[in-house]
Amino acid sequence: MSDTAQLIVDGKTYEIPIITGTEGERALDISRLRADTGLITLDPGCGNTGTCQSSITFMDGEKGILRYRGIPVEQLAEHSTFRETAYLLINGELPTQEELQRFSVRLNDHSLVHEDMRAFFESYPRGTHPMGMLSSMINALRAFYPRIPTRSEEEEINITFARLLSKVRTLAAMSYKISLGHKVVYPRYDLSYCANFLNMMFDSPVRPYRIDEDLVEALNVFWILHADHEQNCSTAAVRSVGSARVNLYASISAGISALWGPLHGGANQAVIEMLQEIYDRGGDPAPFIARAKDKEDPFRLMGFGHRVYKTFDPRARIMEKVCNRVLKKLNRQDPLLPIAKRLEEVALKDSYFIDHNLYPNVDFYAGIVLRAIGIPLDMFPVMFAIGRLPGWIAQWKESADDPKWKIHRPRQIYTGLLKRDYVPMEERG
Ligand code: SDX
Repeated sequence: MSDTAQLIVDGKTYEIPIITGTEGERALDISRLRADTGLITLDPGCGNTGTCQSSITFMDGEKGILRYRGIPVEQLAEHSTFRETAYLLINGELPTQEELQRFSVRLNDHSLVHEDMRAFFESYPRGTHPMGMLSSMINALRAFYPRIPTRSEEEEINITFARLLSKVRTLAAMSYKISLGHKVVYPRYDLSYCANFLNMMFDSPVRPYRIDEDLVEALNVFWILHADHEQNCSTAAVRSVGSARVNLYASISAGISALWGPLHGGANQAVIEMLQEIYDRGGDPAPFIARAKDKEDPFRLMGFGHRVYKTFDPRARIMEKVCNRVLKKLNRQDPLLPIAKRLEEVALKDSYFIDHNLYPNVDFYAGIVLRAIGIPLDMFPVMFAIGRLPGWIAQWKESADDPKWKIHRPRQIYTGLLKRDYVPMEERG
């Protein structure tokens, strides 16, 4: 296959280099396009535009493939833990036993937050959405760790990563406990990453929380499935904000804000709200499917469709298995699960969804898993954010280490008014 393309503009031919990735993906390298031709490209939503070369995550949207550092997500979901997967994403290799142990000690050592942060939570109006609080709190962490390590201080940088990965759980659980007016539960040195989070969320002086290893396993898989997803909207936000060489806390805070959107990480909450509405109206998904197909109606079927996957999101299949496993273990029926399965069945037979390549994505069954674990609905996007944090860190690190990295500054095509003069107030209509 050719490694150049030809572009003919106004009778002049330009050679455009073609670069090829390790999985055979090809791209026109247009980094000299404007300098050579005076033209830019236009691609709203970047559906056809790569903003970086990355070695972290590979997705094939047509085949439904997702691999972290080359390892299929299915294998990580089956054999790994979230803590180990986070290490893999950030460092590029699975840890040795000693490396994992050192990472665990570091996560434990950095699991507390400064007691002054409680005042931040307590000054929020009751009912504030936890994603807004989390974004602020992650930014506020910077105030307690003002010294940002230089790129040569690898040990300090790794401590910053561990600090974020560990404290994000503590901050999320604190926001929940304080929203209830309950006593904050501190992290424990003797609990694993996921068990610690569940204990901080649900332990109480009057009702000690019993760690259920099946729920810990389900949470590990849930967070593994969310850990990275190449250049999605929130990761693009982390890279874009980070490209201005702002600190990691501010970049991650921007990622949390982008993830909050119902078209992105907020979809897991929106799916449950949609399923609940279908349930409340008698359980027939047909009216909702009709609305999703109606061009005049802005309603979208939440948990369906994806910018990259044009077949099943591989994470959705795994999440559905986790769903069935957790509900069976708890011997619990979730009335929304049969609604979800019915909705999926009807939609996947409908020509509109078939023609638009709309399949369930990671968010479709995620909410039912979170309900089974006992996570409150408005914390569903927070659960996505905790899972995505190692991916954001890995992507931020890759861009910060890239010697060719530049500040994000997209171009535009201007369609406004041509030059005109200022009109003094007395002459205005
Ligand atoms: C995540 O990018 C990532 O990797 C994200 C993510 C990650 O891990 O980071 O995977 C996580 O965000 C998953 C997606 C969660 N969002 C939802 O479930 C919300 C519902 N889904 C849609 O809003 C939509 O599918 C998007 C936002 C996910 C993708 O939108 P695109 O790629 O911009 O597609 P589009 O809006 O341009 O739609 C293309 C066509 C349109 O029809 P036409 O005008 O071409 O006829 O498909 C239709 C849309 O109307 N369409 C849908 C639909 N999604 C797309 N129609 C009904 N219901 C839907 N859900």
